Amino acid sequence: MRLVLVGPPGAGKGTQAKRIATHYGIPNISTGDIFRSNVAEMTELGELAKNFMDEGELVPDDVTIAMVRDRLGRDDTEPGFLLDGFPRTVPQAEALNEILDSYDVALDSVLKLQVDDEEVVHRLSGRRICRSCGHTFHIEFDPPTREGVCDLCGSELYQRDDDRPETIRRRLDVYHEQTRPLVEYYKARDLLRIVIGTGAVDEVKARAIEALEQPVA
Ligand code: AP5
Repeated sequence: MRLVLVGPPGAGKGTQAKRIATHYGIPNISTGDIFRSNVAEMTELGELAKNFMDEGELVPDDVTIAMVRDRLGRDDTEPGFLLDGFPRTVPQAEALNEILDSYDVALDSVLKLQVDDEEVVHRLSGRRICRSCGHTFHIEFDPPTREGVCDLCGSELYQRDDDRPETIRRRLDVYHEQTRPLVEYYKARDLLRIVIGTGAVDEVKARAIEALEQPVA
């Protein structure tokens, strides 16, 4: 299974990516997570990426593509992978094709999680993440038992810098301008499957797996 997960910020990509990747026994590769761990470790890549992420802008294509090329070169991707948050522009999609061609493999499906802008703002403004284990909560939809404390490991919960209201709005604009064209791109290649991203997390997962098991309509 070689999968791509696309959708607006806050559509639930990270939430579903973990579950879908576990279901198929493949690694979950999130470009956002890789950038954030580089920011936390204060690497050169992290310092560069932080400036773009904090403004809600995309990290330049050449930097992102080089990072993904390197990650897809590791042995654990041989049985497949799920890419969460990449590609996000048509040039990134073209680069992914080239990378996969060089391994003589191809994508199986592109899953789009559909959630409207109003729901996105609500989800992102209430998101809280564990500083230690990375588990994601929502103050209303999936609240921790003790405010500000992770149920799984007891560490502190934090709010992402790019989940401030003005940055959320910019991220949504960037999605509509730069990432939405990918929907047509993958539709034209008969790879696109659209799943409604609202409802309980387990319901969305079941819909996603069902969509992936069906031939493309
Ligand atoms: P990235 O980390 O990829 O962020 P994103 O696409 O904006 O998506 P999010 O992580 O914010 O949301 P999500 O869809 O994963 O939702 P989640 O599951 O957390 O990228 C961050 C930045 O990195 C970018 O802005 C850019 O700068 C850079 N970057 C990354 N990739 C790049 C690339 N390819 N090229 C260039 N730059 C790149 O859910 C959100 C909330 O909703 C949570 O609180 C969750 O609990 C809740 N929730 C989830 N599902 C449900 C549900 N069914 N019902 C109710 N609540 C739910």
